[in-house]
Parts: sequence; structure tokens; C-alpha cells
Amino acid sequence: MTESADAIVDNTSTVVEPNYDWDGFGFETRQVHAGERPQLDHGDRVVPIHISNAFRFDSFQQTWDRFSLEDEGQLYSRHLNPTAEVAEGKIASLEGGTGAVAVASGTAAISSVLFGLLEAGDHFISTASIYSGTQIIFNRAMKRLGISVDYVWDWRDEDEWESLIRPETKLIFTETIPNPKNDITDIEAIAKIAHRHNIPLVVDNTVATPYLIRPIEHGADIVVHSATKFLAGQGAGLAGLIVDGGRFDWTATNGRYALLTDRQSSTSPSFLERSGNERAFAEYIRQTAVNDIGPAISAFNAFLLQQGMETLSLRMERHVDNSVAIAQWLVDQAGVESVDFAGLPGGRDSDLAQRLYGGRTGSVFGVTVTGGLEGARTFIDHLRVFSRMTNIGDVRSLAINPRTSTHNGFSPEHRARLGIHDGLIRLSIGIESVADLIADLDQALAAVVRIHGA
Ligand SMILES: Cc1ncc(COP(=O)(O)O)c(C=O)c1O
Repeated sequence: MTESADAIVDNTSTVVEPNYDWDGFGFETRQVHAGERPQLDHGDRVVPIHISNAFRFDSFQQTWDRFSLEDEGQLYSRHLNPTAEVAEGKIASLEGGTGAVAVASGTAAISSVLFGLLEAGDHFISTASIYSGTQIIFNRAMKRLGISVDYVWDWRDEDEWESLIRPETKLIFTETIPNPKNDITDIEAIAKIAHRHNIPLVVDNTVATPYLIRPIEHGADIVVHSATKFLAGQGAGLAGLIVDGGRFDWTATNGRYALLTDRQSSTSPSFLERSGNERAFAEYIRQTAVNDIGPAISAFNAFLLQQGMETLSLRMERHVDNSVAIAQWLVDQAGVESVDFAGLPGGRDSDLAQRLYGGRTGSVFGVTVTGGLEGARTFIDHLRVFSRMTNIGDVRSLAINPRTSTHNGFSPEHRARLGIHDGLIRLSIGIESVADLIADLDQALAAVVRIHGA
């Protein structure tokens, strides 16, 4: 069969443009593509590392427009860098947010949100079992700025929340999967309490990642990440992300967040007026808190982060499969007193784990060995495949004794209340062969039993 000349011309003349709008595409497609921008100069397919502190303006007028925020283009890498912008677009898409800001670390992300929304005299509330370093920011840095925090010990207890909320309470903070106890929270229940009082809910989704749960879908207003962990994935670069959920009604806050909602001069609009309710928070945080404190992410780390995110789902599947197998195995072993993993059937949180997390509660959890502190020492010192390290969310498996590390500075009473017992080990399960990981744990537990008893 011969084709007509017309048909051939038609076939060869049609070249469609690459896609740059990934709304409505699957999670795995968006983790690879979302945030990409046309690289017109060289056709690079991998996101380039834009090592430039500042960016040339086309004209006098463009300079003026960028400084007055009429034009949101590049200006200076403290606010916006083209490599970081790709990571920002990607996380906004994966979390279902309206915008995002990348910063130098998870700590910078959390501090920037607090600095942006709170001032001296304000108060906020957090669940008690959050990451120990975040508690230190709350108790030390925030306190020095005249901002006070209260902790809710049982997030299920509405009366406890209500007894702590007062007129100065301007933010509620929690984590989806706290470590080391894997004591998951019900974001929906906490969001209802926050919104009843017109207070934004900030959720640290570091350990779960948007692959396991998307807090905005469950009522969170702002999501933060230590992208240092699972998002970047390979333990090679610190990074932090702030995601704007776009749903909190800033218009109904009566001047409580005045820098965001009100005009600061008669000549320029407020962030709320300029960006609208849906996008005001991300722009506000970028232009004020992040600009004023200066925790800019380096272009190189932004590159590592965006590369890591492209394979998030594949790594998370393996992290969680390995963790479920290891947690189930640990439960029956001599030398193990308890395993803190919400995904295990029959535990206090197993219904919640099923409902919100599909039974997959991440890969950072606790195991308590016999022999107390000396049992923990024996266990840690016998590990050969697991690395003795702080950090979580690496492709490598890691182990640490929280009593003598992350929670070393806490009082014995505080540790006891958090369930940080002497023999507790925090495991961050990597993506190695599960049989090798179990064999390593097995020989370390055998040493514990030999020396300290079962
Ligand atoms: C849950 C969580 N949030 C925040 C942080 C702080 O992140 P970064 O170390 O990137 O500053 C960590 C660090 O371990 C963390 O585990």
C-alpha cells in the first residue's frame, strides 16, 4: 500500500510541544515531571544547577516590577533560584498545595513558618511527641522571642486542646508520623479543632512524605518537610520545604496575621490582595520570613532534592515493605521487649493506621531491647549493616539509642512521659535486601540475649 504525499507531509509536520502542566496526572508522573520548566537554551533534560546569586534584568522597568513584586520572576537567590523552583513546583504538586518555598533545612522551614506567623506575646500549641529538635526550637528559640508553647499529650482528648487554646493562640503544630515511637496522629481530628478556632494547622510530613499521606487533603493548612530525609532520599544534602495548602481563610482573621493580610504602606497592596487567599501564604513567607532570616537553599542541594524526589514512590514502597517485614519479625524475637510500629495489627493505633495511612506508617519506628541502657549499648555496638547514625530517611538503614542521643538533653521525667526508655532503639529502615537487614538485627539481638538475658 502506498501513502499519498499529503499524508506524509501531514505526519512529519506535526511536532507538539512538551507538556508543562501536570495537574491531573498520576503521582508517579508528577514526581518525575512536575515543576519542570522549558530549558530553552540547551534543551537540558536534567534540571540544571543554577549557580548564580542574582539574575540579570531585561530592563529598568523589569527591575522595578520585580522589586515591587508585580513580576514574580528571578531576582536574587535568597528568595528564588531556578533550580529550587523546580523542587518547589514538584512538592506543591505532590502535596496538593498551591505553592511552596524551598529552604536550607527542615529546621529552617519550621522556624520560617513560626517567624512568619508569630510575634512576641503570641502562643501556639503542639502535640508532645514531635521530633526532639523541633521541641528545642519551640522551647528555646521561640521562648527567647517571647512566644510561648503548650504541648498536648493526648491529641485524642478534645478537652485538653480546648483547655489550652486562648486568644493569643495563633498556630497549631503536629507531625503525621512522629519518631521514634511511630505514634501517628489523626490530622482530620486536629484540623477540626484548629479550624473551630480559626487557627492554621501546620503539619510536619517528613516521615510519611506525600506518598503515604497528603495532610492538606485531611485539613492541614501548611505542610513542612525536612526534605533532608526521604524526599532527597540519599542522605547527601540538607533541605527544607514549606507548602501552602491554599485553603486557610486569611480574610477572616481580623488582623491577627496583619503582615500577611494588611497593607504595610499606602502605595503597595498586601500579600492577601496581591496573591489572593489561595497563594498569599507561600508568597508572604518567601518575601518576609525567608527573606529576613536568609535560610536560602544552595542550588546544588536543591538539585539533589529534586533528583531525589523523582524516585520517591519507588523508594517509599521498598522502605515500607522492609519495615513491615522487620517489625513483624521483631515482635517474636527473644531480647525484644516491645515494638512501636503503628502499622502492626492489633495495636492501639491500628485502626487509624488503616484509615489514614492504608496500614503503611513509614519506616522509622522503635524497638526496645532487654537490658536497659546496657542492652541498647550491646545491640548498637553489634550492628554491621545498620549504621550507627542520627538522621532518618536515608536509603541506608540506620539505628540510634534516643535516650543517649536525640533525647539526651531531656529530663528523666520528660523522657519517661514520652516513652523514651533506656533500652529504646530508633530504626530507620533503608532499601537494602530485607533478609540482610533481619540477619544483622538477629545477630545483634543474639548478643543482647547472651549478655543481658531474654
Ligand atoms: C520530623 C523532622 N522534622 C524536622 C527535622 C529537622 O530537619 P533538618 O535536620 O533538615 O533541619 C527533622 C530532623 O531530623 C525531623 O526528623
